[in-house]
Amino acid sequence: MTFDLAKYKLRSQHLAYEDLPWDEVPKTRLDEEAINALGYMMDIEGYTSVYLSQLLVGGACLEPTITGFLHVWAYEEMYHSDALRKFLESYGVSVPDSRARSLRMRTDGLRMLNTAIIMVASRWTRIFPAIYLTIGAVNELTTLTGYRLLAEKTQHPVLQELLARIVKQERQHYAFYRWKASEYLASSRMARAVTRRYLARTFVAVGDGAKSKEEIYRLARYLFPGDDGRQEACAIDCEIDRLPGLGGLGLLERTVRKAAGSEGTLVHTAPQVHARVGKAA
Ligand SMILES: [Fe+2]
Ligand SMILES: [Fe+2]
Repeated sequence: MTFDLAKYKLRSQHLAYEDLPWDEVPKTRLDEEAINALGYMMDIEGYTSVYLSQLLVGGACLEPTITGFLHVWAYEEMYHSDALRKFLESYGVSVPDSRARSLRMRTDGLRMLNTAIIMVASRWTRIFPAIYLTIGAVNELTTLTGYRLLAEKTQHPVLQELLARIVKQERQHYAFYRWKASEYLASSRMARAVTRRYLARTFVAVGDGAKSKEEIYRLARYLFPGDDGRQEACAIDCEIDRLPGLGGLGLLERTVRKAAGSEGTLVHTAPQVHARVGKAA
């Protein structure tokens, strides 16, 4: 699997959302959990610039292929956040201008700590990129799956169209991270071993570092409920399993089970799971 970075950069453009029928938004009702999910996603999309600031202090700044992608990625994610804010405000939810800054101030200590760790850890040039590119792949695949599930749950016509447009760009992000992660993992036995050990011991979830565990679990319970939710999580895990050296980690299923308060044997039923992956990615 390869990724045409030159084409991606040339074709990149901000998310088109001005043309959506915003007056129609309040006509379809959403429950409290859907509103919460949209606020969460808006926050995390907007938090991309903080993630970017951390990545660029590490070895990523030495690799033009990665920095070329990161600039475009951050640009696109910013508009995802803006579009979700526009949706929430059109629905009648107040989003104060101070919200993004408050989130950043609340997590500033962790940001500084992570930045320092990344600066040091990225000295292992073939290892650190493998870890963060893999986490990027997991997060992008989880994000696009989450948007699909939110669109299915809400059955809101304007939201469905908006999320379909966002998912189109998320697929590109996932493709890049997966391609680059595969390359780094395939090239080094040490990178495979360290990445695997790191992921097996670390909590991996979209929004980690910006949102609390309670907030992450609340969203996971809403988007990935019951057996169907665990199957969706397994679908993500099975995609990640196919990266070099990462088979059987069960990252997302573990998070979904923790969120539901039901730890135990992982499902990881590959045949059903692979059928669902086709819908997500
Ligand atoms: Fe996004
Ligand atoms: Fe993305």
